[in-house]
Amino acid sequence: MKFLAAFGAFLGAASAYSATEAMAKAQKPRPIIERASPAGFQHPRLQKRASPYLNDKSGKFAVNGTGIPLVDFDVGESYAGLLPISGNANETKELFFWFFPSSNPAAAKEIAIWFNGGPGCSSLSGLLTENGPFQWQAGTLAPVPNPYSWTNLTNMVWVEQPVGVGYTQGTPDIKNEVDLGLEFAGFFKQFVDTFDLHGFEVYITGESYAGYYASLTHSETYMNIVN
Ligand SMILES: *[C@@H]1O[C@H](CO)[C@@H](O)[C@H](O)[C@H]1NC(C)=O
Ligand SMILES: *[C@@H]1O[C@H](CO)[C@@H](O)[C@H](O)[C@H]1NC(C)=O
Ligand SMILES: *[C@@H]1O[C@H](CO)[C@@H](O)[C@H](O)[C@H]1NC(C)=O
Repeated sequence: MKFLAAFGAFLGAASAYSATEAMAKAQKPRPIIERASPAGFQHPRLQKRASPYLNDKSGKFAVNGTGIPLVDFDVGESYAGLLPISGNANETKELFFWFFPSSNPAAAKEIAIWFNGGPGCSSLSGLLTENGPFQWQAGTLAPVPNPYSWTNLTNMVWVEQPVGVGYTQGTPDIKNEVDLGLEFAGFFKQFVDTFDLHGFEVYITGESYAGYYASLTHSETYMNIVN
């Protein structure tokens, strides 16, 4: 699996620009295949036929796209929940993710990871107010669909990390950013196994301090873990 860390430490504007360009390009000639569940959450057996990401391990993470509180439209196929930072049966540390498969058929073998910065800022703030499929921005009355969602371009996963942030579980005990990278890498191995993403190209992106996370995860250790 190849890792492509496509940015430096202050990448917000630059990555948004190139993503918009790439999105326009990706969407011009190709018909969108409705591989996900555009008509809302379906019975897992039906969804299984439709989505390559639904399997016996991932089913329990399926989100009811029409059942999100206060969101009165379908957000489409997605998976959210907690996965441990290692395969150790006794692992008590877990990171929280929300994974949205893309509607773009050209993205079938790739995934982008989004990090907010901080350190310690929840990536759900990016998902819910910046680049996710639905938005509830400050000063607005209700959530709305986001026509510029990065999920139009590629499969996206927003991850809360490190342990201690947001919905993550366990006692925060890391001492430095190398520990942080390893914590994330351990989680990501569980994620790849759960959704059968072996062999996918992985892009790491984010904003602000997240550039630092990417330089850590773009390491040999990390690549060995997900290969
Ligand atoms: C999804 O949520 C909607 C709205 O709450 C509900 O009517 C529907 O039964 C839910 N679907 C499933 C499969 O739980
Ligand atoms: C998990 O916990 C059990 C019971 O405390 C212990 O016997 C076992 O060695 C632990 N396993 C690992 C991999 O730490
Ligand atoms: C993104 O996808 C949504 C849902 O298919 C669509 O309504 C929207 O127009 C797309 N956005 C762009 C910029 O093409």
